[in-house]
Amino acid sequence: MKLKNTILLQTARKLPAERTPVWLMRQAGRILPEYRKVRESAGDFKTLVKTPELAAEVTIQPVDILGVDAAIIFSDILVIPEAMGLNYEMEEKRGPIFPRKIASPGDLKLLHVARSEELGYVLDAIRLTKRALNGRVPLIGFAGAPWTIFSYMIEGSGSKTFSAAKKVLYTDPQFAHALLTMITDSTINYLRAQVEAGADIVQIFDSWAGILSPEQYNEFALPYISRICDSVENVPKIVFAKGAFFARERMNGIACDVVGLDWNMDIQESRRLVPDKVLQGNLDPCALYGSLDDVRRETKKMLNAFGSSAHIANLGHGLYPDTEVDKVKCFIDTVKEHTW
Ligand code: CP3
Repeated sequence: MKLKNTILLQTARKLPAERTPVWLMRQAGRILPEYRKVRESAGDFKTLVKTPELAAEVTIQPVDILGVDAAIIFSDILVIPEAMGLNYEMEEKRGPIFPRKIASPGDLKLLHVARSEELGYVLDAIRLTKRALNGRVPLIGFAGAPWTIFSYMIEGSGSKTFSAAKKVLYTDPQFAHALLTMITDSTINYLRAQVEAGADIVQIFDSWAGILSPEQYNEFALPYISRICDSVENVPKIVFAKGAFFARERMNGIACDVVGLDWNMDIQESRRLVPDKVLQGNLDPCALYGSLDDVRRETKKMLNAFGSSAHIANLGHGLYPDTEVDKVKCFIDTVKEHTW
């Protein structure tokens, strides 16, 4: 299937493109009434994720409604712990909960390295989505970074401090490395299978990168991301490590193509620290609470700071569910209409 819109892939590969490509983290989801309707018909989040026809439908909604330059497969980073043997539940308003968590090295026997067949429902959703998109835009595959997945498996839920997960790094680094290695091997199997099923580009989300010290990030996070980038071939790779401003220089040296920035990271400084990579981001999702004029102004400011090449426009983190759709459209349209 030949793609009609290739600007995301061209830019990710540092090839010239006619304009800056744009997509949004969490573009599929609660901001769209059309999503809420499908989500309601599915009954709950996990049923939606595990029903390929419905997952494909909500994956394509933002392409139709918002006009983004890529779709991102509708799933969750927590499918990996589940495939490894640790079931999760998605509780309304509370977020993800693991009824059983990993508390000690003895618990590792509950787990195995996930095989791609165990995530067949995501691969089916990718194949269905690719067929339905019919080449309109590329499809982004994704996975959580090992450190972020490790945090959920140890904490058993989200956390303000992630102190239980960090405690393991201080008290039993060997246990930490054993679990991080299992997660990494699972993620490599999973991302390779996503690419085989049709994902055109992949993103690794390290949502809790920013709670580690630079030294811990270099020991427990970056080497695993680097190994994933080395092991997933044939597609461009985006690494988004939220809050890891201190890791930017080293990110320049791993085998990824694109580095995602959050809004805390200065754009010019990031260009200096990460000169060899394409950059993605980084408007504060809260900027979309402003008026349409505010959104246009902030978006243009961001575009001008990045410049006309080697930039993929996005937010600095996922869209918040109470964002108005016309503000999101305004962000996207401003990027698409911008002339240099
Ligand atoms: O449009 C897309 O971005 C694709 C789908 C996607 C979801 N989750 C769907 C989802 C993606 C890429 C993710 C990634 C994800 N999931 C991350 C990394 C990105 C980030 O935000 O840092 C993380 C940390 C998770 C774990 C997770 N899933 C949490 C903490 C929550 C609850 C918080 C919330 O926003 O409600 C989820 C639930 C979730 N994942 C929803 C969606 C659309 C909301 C659930 C619903 O519809 O009821």
